[in-house]
Amino acid sequence: MIIEDYMPKVGDNGTQELLLSCLKSNPKTLPSVFFYDHHGSELYEEITRLDEYYPPKIEIPLLRSTARKLKSELKDCDIVELGSGDCSKISVLLDEVPEKIRRTIVYYPVDVSKNAIEKSACNLQEKYPEMGIHGITADFLKHIEKIPGDRKRFFCFFGSTIGNLSEEKAIEFMGNLGKEMNENDRLLLGMDMVKDIDVLEKAYNDSKGVTAEFNKNILIVTNNHLGTNFNPDDFEHVAFFNKEYSRIEMHLRAKKDLEVSSPLLNEAIRVKKGETIHTENSHKYTVEGIRKMADAAGLSVAQIFSDDKRWFSLVEMVKK
Ligand code: AVI
Repeated sequence: MIIEDYMPKVGDNGTQELLLSCLKSNPKTLPSVFFYDHHGSELYEEITRLDEYYPPKIEIPLLRSTARKLKSELKDCDIVELGSGDCSKISVLLDEVPEKIRRTIVYYPVDVSKNAIEKSACNLQEKYPEMGIHGITADFLKHIEKIPGDRKRFFCFFGSTIGNLSEEKAIEFMGNLGKEMNENDRLLLGMDMVKDIDVLEKAYNDSKGVTAEFNKNILIVTNNHLGTNFNPDDFEHVAFFNKEYSRIEMHLRAKKDLEVSSPLLNEAIRVKKGETIHTENSHKYTVEGIRKMADAAGLSVAQIFSDDKRWFSLVEMVKK
C-alpha cells in the first residue's frame, strides 16, 4: 500500500491568500473545500448517517445494483475514486466484484483528507488483501495529472460532490478529466437530482444540528489557517434551495456586528449583523442538464442508472 500527499499545509501562502481574498470579497465567501479538516470530515461522515440526508441512502443500493451490471468492465482496471472519504462506497462496489477480478484491480483513493485516506486504505487492504491500493492525498481538481494512466481506468466520483462546484467549474473539471481519459476509460459520476424543495431543504437543515456544526466548523479551519478570531457562536447556519441556480446554498449569518482580526491583516475585516458568508453550493440536476454538461465537457453519457423515484443518478460517461 502506497500513500502520497499533495495537500497544502496550515501556513501555506496560497491557501492564506485565497481565504483572505474570499473574506474581503463582496459578498463574503469561504470555499467549501475548507470544511474538511479532521473534525469537519468526521462531521460529514455523521451527516451521511442522518435520516434527513437522503443521498447516501439512495446512492448505496443504486451502487450495488449498478456494480452488478458493470463488474466485467473492471477486469485489469485502475479504479480511481475522487473524494474517496471513508471508502465505504467503493466497498459496496467491490463486494459485488468476484475475487478473481479484484485481483486484477489497483484502487487509487484520492481525497483531501490524509486522515481519511490512511484509515480507510488500511481497512480496505485488510478487507481485500488481493487488491493493490495506492492512496493519494490531493485536491483532485488540481492534481488530476498525478493519477497514472498506463492501464484502463474507471474513474468514480460519488456522493454528488460534483454538485459542490459551480456549473462552470464542474464542466471544466469534467473537461480536464475528459482530456486525461483514454478511449477505454470510464467515469461513473454520482449526481443528485432536482426534487421536492421540502425534501431538499430538510436534508441541509437536519433536526440534530449536525449540518449547522459542519457549516460553522469552516470558521475554525479559517482561524487555524489565518490566525483569525472567528467565534462560530456569533453565526447562524442558513441553508435553502435557490431555484434559479438549481442549488442548495449554505451560508453563515452574523448575529451581531463583528470585527475579525488576523496577524496577516493590517486592518480588521468587518462583518455586519445579518451579513452572510456564503460557504457552499450543492447543485441538483436534471437528465437534460446532465447531458448538456457532459456535451460541453467533451464527454458523452453512456448510461444513466437511477432509483425508482429518480432522486439520485449514477451517470456513466465516456470520452466523446
Ligand atoms: C460533499 N457534498 C456532496 C455534500 C452535499 O450534499 O453537497 C456536502 C454537504 N453539505 C451539507 N451537507 C452535506
